[in-house]
Amino acid sequence: MENYPRWFIKAGLIYALLGALLGLGMAVAPASAARIRFVHIHFNLLGFMTMMVAGVAYHVLPRFNARPVPWPKGVKYQFILQNIGLVGMAFTHAAWGGIWSGGWVQGVFIASAATAAVSFFIMFYNLYFVLLPARPASPPERITGDMKVGAVLDRHPKAMAVFLESGFAALANPVAKSTLAKVVTIDQACGKHGIDSAEFLGKLNRALAEGAGEPARPAGPPAQAARPVEEPAKPVAEGSIIRSGERCKPDTLVGSLIKVYPQTKAVFEKHYGEGCFSCPGQAFETVRQTAEMHNIDAALILKELNEVIAQAPPAAP
Ligand code: HEM
Ligand code: HEM
Repeated sequence: MENYPRWFIKAGLIYALLGALLGLGMAVAPASAARIRFVHIHFNLLGFMTMMVAGVAYHVLPRFNARPVPWPKGVKYQFILQNIGLVGMAFTHAAWGGIWSGGWVQGVFIASAATAAVSFFIMFYNLYFVLLPARPASPPERITGDMKVGAVLDRHPKAMAVFLESGFAALANPVAKSTLAKVVTIDQACGKHGIDSAEFLGKLNRALAEGAGEPARPAGPPAQAARPVEEPAKPVAEGSIIRSGERCKPDTLVGSLIKVYPQTKAVFEKHYGEGCFSCPGQAFETVRQTAEMHNIDAALILKELNEVIAQAPPAAP
């Protein structure tokens, strides 16, 4: 759907221009109003006003409410039907001055009016139900004994404190962290250190759940503005930070991705438009969330991001 909000706005502006010209025509030659008044009114109100509002609403409301529109394809159908309906009504009304005598002209007018009406139902459905309560954030990932220590530490840097205080002192050594920890599972590490694995996992999961107490998705300017200025932006509970040399995952935070691989910006700009990075919320959104907001297949974005990552030398840390 990503281009349709833009097209709605462009179409709205074109109808505004045509509406103004027709208004001017009526001002200059009032007798023409009988034919073009209806067209003037509907170009301005159904074309300009409605399409401008729809375009802006489709761009803003999914972000405002952190959920995609319920029927993304409907945006396209609304655009097509609204334009066909409006042009059909305008043409038949202007050509025959709204003086109906039945027959096919009236039939075309009624069909166009019905087409436009269907487009309004679609608009209602999408814009009304996009305002349903935002979807709950996905629960924080549960750490299990078969996960590799290194992978857990990469995804949850906060886990390091729990590992260290539970007796895994060797992890303080960066070499051990980047070598041994990558191949050893939590169960194996606990066995080696004589630590009760179930007890340790309970402690670790509790600590991570507490750490995830901040809002799951502090997207958008209001949430940011509420945060004290001196406090650095924290990653959201469900997002993970990418490091140099790693591949991008669905839950990778966009902010961390473009820091490590600035080249990936081009992929977002290509699919979401160039204004994408003017939105402060992007830094806290995961790749999957941005794809959902723009109704683009997340797998496609991920594929392209990872292609860029594979080619690009990672940025200096
Ligand atoms: C350059 C801009 C415009 C011009 C020159 C203009 C001109 C006119 C004129 C001359 C009429 C009277 C037609 C008659 O004799 O019945 C009229 C009616 C009307 N215009 Fe405009 N107009 C302009 C913009 C707009 C806009 C932006 C809107 C809506 C957003 C609008 C909505 C209407 C409506 C609803 C009527 C019908 C009013 C009624 O039935 O009493 N017009 N316009
Ligand atoms: C599904 C979309 C729509 C359809 C099918 C439709 C149809 C019609 C029809 C059949 C008329 C009577 C025309 C006549 O007297 O010859 C009319 C008049 C009017 N419509 Fe619509 N319309 C639609 C959307 C809108 C919207 C969105 C607005 C405003 C936001 C609007 C504002 C008006 C106004 C102000 C008039 C009175 C015109 C006058 O004074 O002559 N219409 N419309």
